[in-house]
Amino acid sequence: MTDVPLNDLRRGFLELEAPLRAAVDEVLSSGWYVLGPQHDAFEREFATVIGAAHCVGVANGTDALELALLSVGCQPGDEVVTAANASMYTATAALKAGLVPRFADVDPGSLLLTAATIEPALTPRTKAVVVTHLYGRMAEIAPIRDLCRAHGVALVEDCAQAAGARNEEGPAGSLGDVAAFSFFPTKNLGALGDGGAVVTNDDERAALVRRLRQYGWSSKYTVTEPRGRNSRLDELQAAVLRVKLPHLDAWNARRREIVARYAEVLGSGPRRMVHGNATDSPAYVGHLAVMITEDREGDRAAFAEAGVRSDVHYPVPDHRQPVLASATADVQLPVTERAATQILTLPCFAEMTETEIERVCDVLRKL
Ligand SMILES: Cc1ncc(COP(=O)(O)O)c(C=O)c1O
Repeated sequence: MTDVPLNDLRRGFLELEAPLRAAVDEVLSSGWYVLGPQHDAFEREFATVIGAAHCVGVANGTDALELALLSVGCQPGDEVVTAANASMYTATAALKAGLVPRFADVDPGSLLLTAATIEPALTPRTKAVVVTHLYGRMAEIAPIRDLCRAHGVALVEDCAQAAGARNEEGPAGSLGDVAAFSFFPTKNLGALGDGGAVVTNDDERAALVRRLRQYGWSSKYTVTEPRGRNSRLDELQAAVLRVKLPHLDAWNARRREIVARYAEVLGSGPRRMVHGNATDSPAYVGHLAVMITEDREGDRAAFAEAGVRSDVHYPVPDHRQPVLASATADVQLPVTERAATQILTLPCFAEMTETEIERVCDVLRKL
């Protein structure tokens, strides 16, 4: 019996093989490979889905975060408040921009930032807050936005894990000042390579990101922005994303269903799915099926024994990363640190079979 994988990108490809091959073929024959019609169309279509005025395609989600931070006026030495449980992506982008990451703890139930956990981390030097909609669950954005407004701080949404999520106010990516998306292949909307986007309602901010992503050009070969670079979404990836985008809602619904099945089996036992209480909400898109357990090593062994793959997202909190450790040695984030020892990711992808879901559930029943 083959293992139940955590994810299987090949199945996702096979499901759409014909339209994907046709889209790629069209690009190959077109002779236009960077910043062409596919890219323009994807930017328009994705902005519509997110309900924002502008989408700017970039090379990956980390660049999207960095450009988003620059677009709200962050300058070297400014502080950026974020969570420490999302694998350093925001901190990496902030450090690259010369900013200082400051870490806030998360809510013990959702493992997300809240206004209450962010507030103590704000200082007069804070320029932006980056909220990660972790594992596909949208944070409670309205109170966070109120807090940011009251402190004159920009709000960046990291939507890398939450493409297609929406709460009563609107889609993830439309609720702050600017948002960053990743289209890494494992994301709910994944390309066949790297890709990302910055989304915003602000015309000037979008125009600035367009200049920054292309060498700082204000017009061809004229560099006006000092911190430009090359970070573009190519035609092949844009064409692939256009084929996949119409399926996003259905895939997200299926992911929610899978997590709901796991949550139902766990019931009110000692283990729980982190977002098991959100599986009937479109504000959750089941990017990762993460369980909380007091016996992670024992549970992992049980899954391995049954041929079910598992993983940990993420084992090392940002403030304990070697690259930062001396700067953040005295930072204590009890909820984040405890969760890092208790989280376990189970298989979850839209193409999972009933048999595979049952195999995961069987192990959960016996834990
Ligand atoms: C929450 C989050 N933010 C940012 C990123 C960075 O995206 P990328 O890998 O495309 O640079 C990722 C994923 O990789 C992510 O999961």
